Amino acid sequence: MAAEPEVLDPADESFARDPYPYYAALRSQRPVARVALANGTHAWLVTGYEQTRAVLADPRFSNVPPQAAGRPKPDSPAQRARACLARHMLNSDAPDHTRLRRLTSAAFSPRRVDALRPRIEDLTDGLVRDLAARLDRDGSADLVDAFAFPLPVLVIGEVLGVPEADRDALRAWTYRVGSPADALEQGAVDEAWTRLYGYFTGLIAEKRRAPGGDLFSALVHDSSEGGLDDGELLAMAFLLLFAGYETTMNLLASASLLLLTHPHELAAARREGPDRWAAVVEEALRHASPLEGTTWRRTTEAVDLGAGARIPAGASVLAVLASANRDPSRFPDPNAFRPDRYGAGPERAAPHVAFGHGPHFCVGSRLARLEAATALPRLFAAFPGMRLAAEPTQLPYRPGLLVRGPRRLPVTAAPSD
Ligand code: HEM
Repeated sequence: MAAEPEVLDPADESFARDPYPYYAALRSQRPVARVALANGTHAWLVTGYEQTRAVLADPRFSNVPPQAAGRPKPDSPAQRARACLARHMLNSDAPDHTRLRRLTSAAFSPRRVDALRPRIEDLTDGLVRDLAARLDRDGSADLVDAFAFPLPVLVIGEVLGVPEADRDALRAWTYRVGSPADALEQGAVDEAWTRLYGYFTGLIAEKRRAPGGDLFSALVHDSSEGGLDDGELLAMAFLLLFAGYETTMNLLASASLLLLTHPHELAAARREGPDRWAAVVEEALRHASPLEGTTWRRTTEAVDLGAGARIPAGASVLAVLASANRDPSRFPDPNAFRPDRYGAGPERAAPHVAFGHGPHFCVGSRLARLEAATALPRLFAAFPGMRLAAEPTQLPYRPGLLVRGPRRLPVTAAPSD
């Protein structure tokens, strides 16, 4: 078994690419552990399945960031936008959270989400056509850039009711705001935040005046429990964009990578159809958890999680979903990609925690599943000879403990595709 490093450096490239051996060692010794981080701080990492579910369901683990009370006044539009994002419901506890959550869940009803299927099909087909043209022209393409990134942003555009003409701008700003810190000049990132802030402010005013059939209009016009004020709606628009695109991008990219490296599983999905694709999506969520960890929690009092794990009050705690989803006590042979775990029948595996657990369980889980189960079969049907054009173990991954997925996925297609 790999020895646990003294200090965890989330920026380390090989950790970002494959954090699983580290988590396995930690989980088997101390599934709730105080860990030293490379930035000089300490954090509690929760890596066991049972412990993760216990923490996420326990109100003594607060979602309100500690600095929220005394944060300096934002003095630029970009800082205002960031401060606004920080006010969203994922950063709140009951009872604020309960009200925001009820309104959001009503807007994301199964009926409304399922009605997006034909649009997701059209958007996927458009991207597949562009990808075919790119492959024809260049011989290879990056599946993250051409498929996994743009599709979720376009779908969030549908959710928010962003007019078609503005979609390219939304895509460009989102790309800049979500780029790794070193990839763009600071000015470009700030400008994108400012543009998004201005754009969403205008969008909310427009939806108030003339609601559309989109989910966001439903949220703008739901006046139960007093409805949402403009600040809350703005925070919600940012939250939906950021909670919805990077996670789904990672799911689409990781699932594509798993299928390209497991040709028997791809063949089985092609042969067996929708139920098997649904199982592929479920197993990809478990095996390659797109959110490596939840958002940070903070203990409001000392909490005893049993087996010697006593977390003091005021501690920063991270539930590591990626690790819980590979806990061998719940998932036999946890490192294997085996979609048949999620086939129908009594053998079906335990529910994974890729969408979290408890009061903050992902509002967009149905949409994310629908998106992946709609888009992946269409992508692989369009390019039966698609191949990975890189060594899978050398692909770059985004650093950090929060999100996880390949940053690039170079592919080629067979000449007949
Ligand atoms: C594969 C894709 C996705 C994954 C893996 C994912 C995962 C998660 C997780 C783990 C949480 C809980 C975080 C925590 O407890 O700290 C969460 C919350 C949330 N997600 Fe997702 N998500 C995905 C897609 C989406 C989409 C498409 C949307 C909406 C368009 C969305 C909207 C939200 C919202 C609003 C919350 C906050 C819920 C609350 O605070 O009550 N997510 N998501």
